[in-house]
Formats: sequence, structure tokens, C-alpha cells
Amino acid sequence: MLERSVLAENALQALHDEDYDRPFNTQNLNHTTMIFMGDREQVSLDGDWNFCVDLLDTGLRQKWFAMEPAAPRDREEPWDYDPYMGETVPVPSCWQMLKEKWYFFEGSAWYTRPVDFSPKPGKRTFLRVGAAQYDCKVFLNGEFVGNHYGGSTPFFAEMTDRLKDGRNWLMLCVNNVRTLDRVPMRNTDWFNYGGVYREVSLVETPESLIRDFFIHLKPDSHFACLTASVVAEGAETAEISIPELGIRETVQLVDGKGSIDIAAGPLLWRPDRPKLYDVHVSAGDDRVSDRVGFRTIERKGRELYLNGRPLWLRGISVHEDDDKRGKVITEDDLRRRYADAKEMGCNFVRLAHYPHHERAVELADEIGLLVWAEIPVYWAIDFANPATERDAQNQLLELIRRDRNRACVAIWSVGNENADTDARLAFMKGLAETARAEDPTRLIAAACLVNHTKLKIEDRLAAYLDIIGINEYYGWYDEDFSELPKILANSQPDRPVVISETGADADITEQGPKDGLFSEDYQASVYEKQIATLKDLDFVKGMSPWILYDFRTERRQGIFQRGFNRKGLIAADKVTRKKSFAILRSFYHMVAAGEVEEWERS
Ligand code: GCU
Repeated sequence: MLERSVLAENALQALHDEDYDRPFNTQNLNHTTMIFMGDREQVSLDGDWNFCVDLLDTGLRQKWFAMEPAAPRDREEPWDYDPYMGETVPVPSCWQMLKEKWYFFEGSAWYTRPVDFSPKPGKRTFLRVGAAQYDCKVFLNGEFVGNHYGGSTPFFAEMTDRLKDGRNWLMLCVNNVRTLDRVPMRNTDWFNYGGVYREVSLVETPESLIRDFFIHLKPDSHFACLTASVVAEGAETAEISIPELGIRETVQLVDGKGSIDIAAGPLLWRPDRPKLYDVHVSAGDDRVSDRVGFRTIERKGRELYLNGRPLWLRGISVHEDDDKRGKVITEDDLRRRYADAKEMGCNFVRLAHYPHHERAVELADEIGLLVWAEIPVYWAIDFANPATERDAQNQLLELIRRDRNRACVAIWSVGNENADTDARLAFMKGLAETARAEDPTRLIAAACLVNHTKLKIEDRLAAYLDIIGINEYYGWYDEDFSELPKILANSQPDRPVVISETGADADITEQGPKDGLFSEDYQASVYEKQIATLKDLDFVKGMSPWILYDFRTERRQGIFQRGFNRKGLIAADKVTRKKSFAILRSFYHMVAAGEVEEWERS
């Protein structure tokens, strides 16, 4: 820890060093430092943490993280913040939802808590942060451990050789400033929450460690062969067992890596029968279990197939947003979200526009909903910036590593509504290639834009995708509804199209209009026209209208919006349904029953 004079020196230097952040932006906590979680035990570090917003990054400039814990009277020098005392906030939380004065705060904030630890021989300890928006710098006992970029994926920091016996002090400096070079960049149509908004924990493992484990049905194996791959440290072999299938196999590891094909005939996972198996993997002294479903998802030409059967995606888009907790989700929240989707007749949800909490995906696995998972390569990303590309690539790899054993995840989406520039094409083509290399068992998509001049689906990225997502708002942003059939007629895509977004705003609060734009009836009429147009197009293999619930976004300040996007089929209270909910439900129920043509007659 720092001597008295150095502290004063720091304070002085802090006034003149505008490059103060560089030593703390190594982004060394990334997909390469992940460990395979499965059902590992975790020691929760959630709860009250000392907290301080730090608009001017004074904490990094003055090195608050290096201060000694001391009682105020024992401090001999003036200080601007003492991380060992003062205000606390609950973790996980979004600071905007805790105090009016923090609602629009964008900047850095400090979280500090003690960690009492007693080292055990032969054990390793990792800090796991479920997610922190956006840049999270980690300090332990005054030392910089590293930082993580990306607000929606988990990261790990090994603490084995850093934690001392007894009391340790853990500090996180989280910065949510919107910038051009981040992913997403500074302009989005969702609220820029900030903070440590998912769980934080310590994970203890043996010295031998399973870093990664992926098991799936081997494509083109006629559902009769599983492929499993293991990455482990400190072991020459790994063992995989699936008791319910009578499977117990050993994998040879070379340089810590190995994979094996296993003959098996599992019951296939599908939304109406989400069968999961207990799968156990061990390597050396490490042993982890996971619950895994087996299914295949493919596209052939314009057709989508789940387990070899034609598939039409009856979906809805959802944000991770709650009008009281912001991005902090609860189990009840998720169960209500999926109950509403199921009641609407959905077999599919688009988790927009960033990786949602892992529990959202686990629950979709358990209750049977296919998932479109996405990284926030949203609108005008700084595509020519290598640092931005590295960040996006890392977020994609972290997402895939976290969720690729989830049978429900059918689609990796590499972005949303990006102008078709050369830099963007190279950037997103690279992401699609990374996703394929990392996971050859899923479909790659992106939400693309329609070429409104040529009235055509025309996006060069489509050639690198399995599914072309199309966001179109005919009847809302684009008045002339007659264009939609023309666009669709002009476009003869050679692969499935999913209408990844469509819809209209409807303010059903007492401030809302009784008719016209923003009214409930107007929204309903848009849905009726959309469904009537889309239902007969053989290359449209699904839709995920925008959006299940109204959600917070500062971009919208109109009298019928008031800081919310009101395109939900259910209001922000997550209870009050709009007429469009029933309209989409009746369509989906007919699609499910294979009676699409009936729809009009009903
Ligand atoms: C876009 C975008 C969404 C946005 C929606 C809207 O398509 O992808 O994030 O919220 O349109 O305008 O409501």
C-alpha cells in the first residue's frame, strides 16, 4: 500500500495526467479467462457494497483503490473518497434505479466490499462477475487484476495467488459511458443502464480445471451420435457420462484438448417436449455437471428444420428491462415473460439486442422455447476500428462459450440494422465466421435492413448468414403498406427470412390517444395487415415482432412515449395486454395447428 507522500504525489499527478486510464484498460479478462461453469458451486458476493459515483474518474487518477483502510480520525491526509465506508448499494443492481440523482448518470462508479478468505491447499479460486455495464476494472487489495469490456457477458478473474488468508478488499470500477468505439456504440433505442447488475461470486475449483465443455448431436448423424469436446488443465484424460443413456466414455486430452464421438439415441429436445439429460464431465479432480438437450437445427434452401422437421418460428422479441429494477432480472420475471410468450403461441423468442442473463436461456431450455441470441452490434458501430472488432469478437465468443450447451439456442445473431458498408461487411462476416468455427451446430443470422429504394431485401451480408432477419415497420415508420408485398415479391432470397422486427407503438395509458397513431387500435390494424401479408410468403419462416413489453428508452420523449418505447403487446407493467396480443395469438395458434389459410376466414 502507498506511503503518505506518494498519496499526496498521486493527488498532484492526478491533476496533470489525462492518460490515467491506459494502465487500467488491458481487457485481459475475456473469453480466454472463462471457465466452464455447469453446476459449479459459487460463494455469493452479492449484497451491500460500498458505492460511489465518480463522474471525473478521480478514483483512477488519485488511485483510491490503493488506499489503506483506516478510521477517518487516523487519516493524516485529506481524502476525496474513502472506499471503506460511506454509502452502500445492493449488488446486483442498476444505479439508475436506486436514486433519482443517478437516473441519468453515465460515468464510472466504484463498488467495494471485504472478502474474508482462508486458502485451501490444492484449490483455485476465481472471481465471477455475471455482467457489469460496460467496462469493469477489478482491484484486489490495492492491486489492479484486470478489466473486462462488454456489458452483457460473464467474466472471470483467477484470484488463487492474490487472495490472502483473512480479510481482503475487492473493488470494481464500472464505467457505462456511451462511446463511438464500444459495442453497442453511443446511440441505442434502449436505456443505458449502468452497474454490476448480475450476480458476483467466488468459484472454487481443484488445481485440475475444466475450462470448456461442449456436447451436442453430431449434424448429419441421423440423431444417432453425440460429439463432445473438452478443454482442461492438469489432466490427460476426461470422462463424460450420461447415466440416463448408459453412456460413460473417456476422452484423451492432447495439450489439454480432446473430443470424442459417442453413439447414442437421445430423445430429441423440442419446444413441446424440452427433454434435458444430466451430463457429467470430469478431468483430474475437477467434476462438473450440466443439463443438456439434444436436437438438430438446420436450414436447407429456404426451409428451416428442427430435428429434421419443417419449422416455422412463432416468436416475439424481448428486452431485458424492468420498470423498477432495470436490467436486473428475477426468476419470476423470466417465468412470467415465457408464460406470456407461450400463451401467445410462441415456440421462439428473440433475446434482443445483447446476451440476456444465462438463466433466461436455461429457463427457455427447461420450458421449451427456441432462442435467437444476439450481440449488440447495433446500428452505426465503429466497424473500421480494430479495438471495436476485438471487443465484438470477444462478446460473441463469451456468449457462445456460456450458452452453447443450451439446446434452445438455435440462432447466433451477429448484429442488428447496420448499414451495408464495406467495413461493416468485413466486420460482420468475420463475426459470422467466428460463430461457425466456434459452433457448427447452429444457424447464424443478423437483423438486416430492406433496400427501400430498390424495394428489395438486398444485403451483402446475407451471403454469410443462414437466416436473413428483416426488420420492417410497414404501417408505422413506412406508411405505404403496399410496398411490403412488392419488396417481398421482388426479393427471391435463397435462404429463410425471419421478420425479426415489425410492429407499432400503442400508448394504452390514460394519456394515450383513443385513435390514430400511438393508439391501441392503430397498432392492432398494423398487426392485422402485417400478418395478412406475411403469412403466405413461402420464404418467410418466422417472425419475432417488436416487442413483448413496453420498455424504457431515453430516445423517445413524445407525449405518448415519455421515455418508453411503447411497441409492446403488453404494457410496461407487464400485465396489461393490448389488442395486438390477441391478434398475434390467434395467428400463432393457427400456424401451430397448421391452419394458416383459416386465419382470414376466422
Ligand atoms: C429498430 C431497432 C429496435 C428499436 C425499434 C423501434 O428496429 O432494432 O431496437 O427499438 O426499431 O424503432 O422501436
